[in-house]
Formats: sequence, C-alpha cells, structure tokens
Amino acid sequence: MYNLKWILPPFLAFLAILTYPLWSGPKGAMPELAKPKGEACVESATWMRANHMQLLDHWREEVVRNQSRVYVNQAGQRFEKSLTKTCLSCHNNKQEFCDRCHNYTSVKPYCFECHVDPKLSEVSHVQ
Ligand code: HEC
Ligand code: HEC
Ligand code: HEC
Repeated sequence: MYNLKWILPPFLAFLAILTYPLWSGPKGAMPELAKPKGEACVESATWMRANHMQLLDHWREEVVRNQSRVYVNQAGQRFEKSLTKTCLSCHNNKQEFCDRCHNYTSVKPYCFECHVDPKLSEVSHVQ
C-alpha cells in the first residue's frame, strides 16, 4: 500500500501547476485608464469598447475613398473623422489610455507609425 502522506502533496502540487491558467486569471486586474476629457465619447462607452476598431476602419475608408470627413453620431452630434484630431483630443494621454488597454489585451495597432500622437509628434506625421 502506498503512503498517501508522500503521494498526496506532490500530486496536489502537480494539479495546481496543471490548472494554473484556470485559477490565475488573465494578466492580473485590468489596469486603470487615463481619464478622458469631455463628458461622453463619440458613441456610448460600452459601444466604443466593443466597436472602436470598426469605427476607425470605417472613418478611414470614408475619408480616403469618399472625402467624407464628418461623422454624425446616434445623438446627432458632429465629429471630424480623425484619429488624431478627434479621438486623441479627448483621449490626450494615449500611453495611459489606448496603449494601456492594448498592452493588457495584447493588441498592437500600427496606426501611429504614421498618425500623430501629439505627445510624440516628432516621430509621426499624418495630422
Ligand atoms: C468628446 C470627447 C471624446 C472623443 C472625441 C472620443 N472619446 Fe472616447 N471616451 C470619452 C469619454 C468621456 C469616455 C468615457 C465615457 C464613459 O465612461 O461613459 C470615453 C470612452 C472610450 C472608450 C471606452 C473606455 C473604457 O473604459 O472601456 C473607448 C475604447 C474610447 N473612448 C475610444 C475612443 C476612440 C477610438 C475615439 C475616436 C474614434 C474616441 N474615443 C473619441 C471621450 C471622447
Ligand atoms: C478598454 C480597452 C481599450 C481601449 C481603452 C482602447 N482599445 Fe483599441 N482595441 C481594444 C481591443 C480589445 C482591440 C482588439 C479587438 C479585436 O481584435 O477585435 C482593439 C483594437 C484596436 C484597433 C484595431 C487594431 C488592429 O490591428 O486591427 C485600433 C485601430 C484601436 N484599437 C485604436 C484605439 C485607439 C486609438 C484608442 C484610444 C483612443 C483605443 N483603441 C483604446 C481595446 C481597447
Ligand atoms: C502608412 C501610413 C499610415 C498608417 C500605418 C495608417 N494610416 Fe490612417 N491615414 C494615412 C493617411 C496618409 C491618411 C489620409 C490623411 C487625410 O487625408 O487626412 C489616413 C487617414 C486616416 C483616417 C481619416 C483621417 C484622419 O485624420 O484620421 C483615419 C480615421 C485613419 N487613417 C485611421 C487609421 C487607423 C485606425 C490605422 C491603424 C489601424 C491607420 N490609419 C494606419 C496613413 C496611414
């Protein structure tokens, strides 16, 4: 008969390592994001969280293909379709807003190779 006293602890340790991804959660808690300027986003925060990538893609298409530069939101407010001039005017701390969430979710948009982050304007150039 095996002695449980010797078998159980290494077995439990093995089980803990095996199931680590299940109980450890993602990379810790969601980091705190910089507070945006203004009262509200272009659309509701919940909608933006889920759809800002499609919205930006759509804006780019519209500007580049159709020269259509004005976006009218659900509430009838008008915004210029611009990554730097619109999004980053309210989210003026890109590092602690966009980047922080993207790092947490392992997303790496390449947009700022060309678009201006006003804080680092010497390395990018599209206004
Ligand atoms: C007029 C200012 C303003 C503009 C312009 C603006 N935002 Fe926002 N944004 C806000 C505010 C304020 C909030 C927080 C709203 C809330 O919590 O109800 C927010 C929330 C968000 C969120 C959700 C954040 C979270 O906590 O989950 C995302 C994502 C976002 N904005 C992306 C963008 C993008 C991308 C653009 C450009 C297409 C943009 N915003 C333009 C003010 C703005
Ligand atoms: C609350 C978290 C969060 C915030 C804040 C946030 N994003 Fe994102 N973003 C995401 C996630 C998650 C994805 C990937 C979604 C997917 O793959 O469907 C993404 C994707 C994108 C993409 C598409 C990337 C690609 O390679 O296709 C762009 C562009 C983008 N975000 C721009 C921004 C900008 C600009 C801001 C700041 C104004 C911002 N995001 C703020 C979570 C966030
Ligand atoms: C290779 C350089 C380059 C890259 C990378 C790039 N863009 Fe652009 N983008 C441009 C140029 C050039 C324009 C046209 C500028 C104009 O006519 O105002 C533009 C226009 C836009 C516009 C509308 C105009 C404005 O002021 O923002 C949006 C929105 C946009 N791009 C989003 C994106 C997003 C989102 C990404 C990343 C997923 C991205 N771009 C990556 C070069 C680039």
